[in-house]
Amino acid sequence: MSDTLYDFGMIGLGVMGSNFLLNMADHGYKVIGFDLDAAKAKKLEDEATSGTTVKGVVTLEEMVTQLDKPRRIMMLVPAGKPVDNVIENLLPFIEKDDVIIDGGNSHYVDTLKRVNYLNEKGIHFMGMGVSGGEKGARLGPSIMPGGDLAAWQRVKPMLEAVSAKVGGEPCVAYMGKGAAGHYVKMVHNGIEYAIMQLISEAYDMLKRGIGLNNDELAKVFTEWNKNELESFLIEITSEIFLKDDEDAQTRLVDVVSDKAGSKGTGKWTSQDAMELPVSVPVIDVAVAMRTLSAYKDERLAAAQLYHPKTKDLKGGKQTDIEKIKDALYFATIICYAQGLSMLYKASTELNMEIPLGDVVKIWRGGCIIRSALLEDFYKAFKKDKTLSNILLSKHTAKLLKKKEKHLRAVIKLAVQSKIPVSGLMSALGYFDAYCSATMPTNLIQAQRDYFGAHTYQRIDKEGIFHTEWHEEVVQADKKHAETENPQPDSK
Ligand code: 6PG
Repeated sequence: MSDTLYDFGMIGLGVMGSNFLLNMADHGYKVIGFDLDAAKAKKLEDEATSGTTVKGVVTLEEMVTQLDKPRRIMMLVPAGKPVDNVIENLLPFIEKDDVIIDGGNSHYVDTLKRVNYLNEKGIHFMGMGVSGGEKGARLGPSIMPGGDLAAWQRVKPMLEAVSAKVGGEPCVAYMGKGAAGHYVKMVHNGIEYAIMQLISEAYDMLKRGIGLNNDELAKVFTEWNKNELESFLIEITSEIFLKDDEDAQTRLVDVVSDKAGSKGTGKWTSQDAMELPVSVPVIDVAVAMRTLSAYKDERLAAAQLYHPKTKDLKGGKQTDIEKIKDALYFATIICYAQGLSMLYKASTELNMEIPLGDVVKIWRGGCIIRSALLEDFYKAFKKDKTLSNILLSKHTAKLLKKKEKHLRAVIKLAVQSKIPVSGLMSALGYFDAYCSATMPTNLIQAQRDYFGAHTYQRIDKEGIFHTEWHEEVVQADKKHAETENPQPDSK
């Protein structure tokens, strides 16, 4: 065993774990990684930049004993049981004051339990979101740590060094108390699901509605990425259309199955939004559409039964492309608005104290949902730290007002053409409801009180009310009938 003491240890040398560690080594830190798979431990060393200090080992003990104390250990393993197993396996070797970081996509409720469990043993446990995929992990991810402040202080310089940078500013910041790091990452993924759903709908409109081929689609998305829609997801979409497939002698995207997978973070966002509660319908729809996509046999049977014939959009090609772009832009803002309003609510409801300005600041680079729009939101939060929904910012309102007409037009075209655009529709539905000074929910309250005596409040006086709706209606009807047809005097 060498005398070197390492600065940072990683458990789990899959692509994310090894790339994150190599990134750290590139920034001058001495790093050591553990994986049961000897091939992965060796690969880590093989891929290290020359001149950096990187070691791969196959037992936890080897890793822990070679770390400088108090230790800094991160795990990047699948969420759920594997995280608990790692913790239990680590416990015999670690000591008070060591910092353990879970950098995977763990559910925040599990993270909270682990924080408390390890806190009792004097171990600092931190849940931390890492976004950016394999490339991001290697070259600069967006990092969302939360919880233990002492742990954050101990790893802050390292995380700042390895994170993505925007205008020289690191894309990492303290996301709040408890399990805030994983909570913010969960909502990031919910927004990711929603934007991906919208992009797929725009693709459908452009492909089936307008008839663009893959080369044309690539051009359109490349153009979009040069302007206000500029984002990582639009950028990778433009590249996807150009990838050939040798086996099928066609573009790869055309032979990819339409059954979408998911690992659960989008579903958690929807579930937790309902728990809070806060309204995030575009995220809900995105989860539902991935689920529906997997019901391939039923969809095939329904297609046979109903023969939906997609009609051409029939507008001018260029005008329609422009409208679809604006619709996507508008609806994308709504996705961010819903996710951020969820963080606003969670911040107080779950006592996390999430700094929303810092959230949008660190999402501007490195992560999957990075986009030019986040710069606008960053400015909005700089102006007003307490913004409960970015739709209430005057600047956002200006952006939306310019595009609203086109979102309505695109939805109309999609309906006429039988192209499903549930995400776009949901975004508009949310916007219209959010901007309604009055909603028709007075009727729902009346119905609830009618059949279940659930009571209601009034707009003209204080208090809680209940009405015997049926009886009063019968009485009123009787009275009405009497005034309309007065009974003849019996005298
Ligand atoms: C990221 C991604 C990453 C992962 C998602 C994919 O920020 O880097 O969000 O965490 O790609 O978990 O999730 P699904 O498999 O559920 O689509």
